[in-house]
Amino acid sequence: MVWIDWVSLFIRWFHVIAGVAWIGASFYFIWLDNNLESPPEWKKQKGIKGDLWAVHGGGFYEVAKYQYGPENMPDTLHWFKWEAYTTWISGICLLVLVYYFGASAFLIDPNVMQLSETQAIVMGLGLIFGGMLVYEIACRSPLAKKPILFAIFLLLLLTVAAWLATHWFSGRGAYIHIGALIGTIMVANVFLQIMPSQRAMVDAVKNQQEIDPSWGEKAKLRSVHNNYLTLPILFIMISNHYPMTYLHPQNWLVLIALCVVSAWIRHFFNLRHVGIVKPSILITGALAMLAIAVWVSAPNLFNGTSDASNSEPVKQEELVSQSQVKQVLDTHCLSCHSKTPTDNMFPSPPLGLVMDDWQDIENKASVIYQRVFVTRDMPFLNKTKMTNEERKLVADWYLQNLN
Ligand code: HEC
Repeated sequence: MVWIDWVSLFIRWFHVIAGVAWIGASFYFIWLDNNLESPPEWKKQKGIKGDLWAVHGGGFYEVAKYQYGPENMPDTLHWFKWEAYTTWISGICLLVLVYYFGASAFLIDPNVMQLSETQAIVMGLGLIFGGMLVYEIACRSPLAKKPILFAIFLLLLLTVAAWLATHWFSGRGAYIHIGALIGTIMVANVFLQIMPSQRAMVDAVKNQQEIDPSWGEKAKLRSVHNNYLTLPILFIMISNHYPMTYLHPQNWLVLIALCVVSAWIRHFFNLRHVGIVKPSILITGALAMLAIAVWVSAPNLFNGTSDASNSEPVKQEELVSQSQVKQVLDTHCLSCHSKTPTDNMFPSPPLGLVMDDWQDIENKASVIYQRVFVTRDMPFLNKTKMTNEERKLVADWYLQNLN
């Protein structure tokens, strides 16, 4: 169904735009908060606790943050909530469209767990909303007052969720569900805590009442959580381009490791904004990224394959012929990767990759080898049941032509 592709295109596009607006605004306000300076006396008298000057787009801006609130509410007050809500709504639409309507293709992997579409969808939604509920309860418990303990708790929650998801769903489906869980936690922070606190503060100003500082503190806490979750969720949004992560045997651990390191790197920037520069964070962060890359890909780096036992170079007399390879790829790939695909899920060739002619195959030899032999995520969910011998044949053909 071609129209589904168009619907998906528009929703995905919108989702990215809304997400840029949300995270952009969020980064900007954190930056603002961290760069406020002590204001001159006359501003202090008005209740302003910090101010700053900026120049952008051909003009000067003067920003002031009030300790509690202005004496009178201005006519127009900007809220910044729809960026969050629309990002979440479009994200959930995309999840439903791609992973729930296409559950048998994208969410369920019979090699991981045999699930019916309904089971998979119920489990997916359960993971997202169940996880969010556990987080919300924790935030309202005394645990929330202990930042380090809470960070450990959040890490455990995500680890358990990632472990479950990767043992239920396809690698991609699992990753996207952890993304959806994090996104839901972030938007719930806005909806359930930040917005109500802000409304209470606005009402208090309108009614000339005292502002309860705990409102601001609670909202701030949730903002801080969201801040550390931004880099992990952005990684998950792009992760489906990187099968070496979600197809790794310990894909849940790869995901958690990347989340931890990216939050650690975020920490560097948070500190830097308040004038504390700790290069050690950036250096250890970079080293940790490198370590993850080596751990995930080292077997491939050193052997050219993911399976050392299969990597014996072919002997001259055993050269794989063009027709052998062509036959294997015709059998296993053409149902999708053709100008006229016959697969019921893919009316047009995925990512525009076609293999009708030998020239197409030669042009794409390196990616074909990668996906068939290294990451082994092609044929898609092994729908056409390619055997290990056939994978080896394609690899041998590719490697022999390298020499
Ligand atoms: C059931 C349909 C289906 C079959 C069969 C299939 N693929 Fe794919 N292929 C896909 C989909 C869907 C994608 C896009 C995946 C993504 O978004 O990462 C894809 C992507 C690819 C890519 C990545 C292209 C790029 O530009 O990054 C390669 C390479 C590839 N397939 C090779 C193969 C080979 C080789 C075979 C046969 C051995 C095969 N595929 C069989 C559905 C299929």
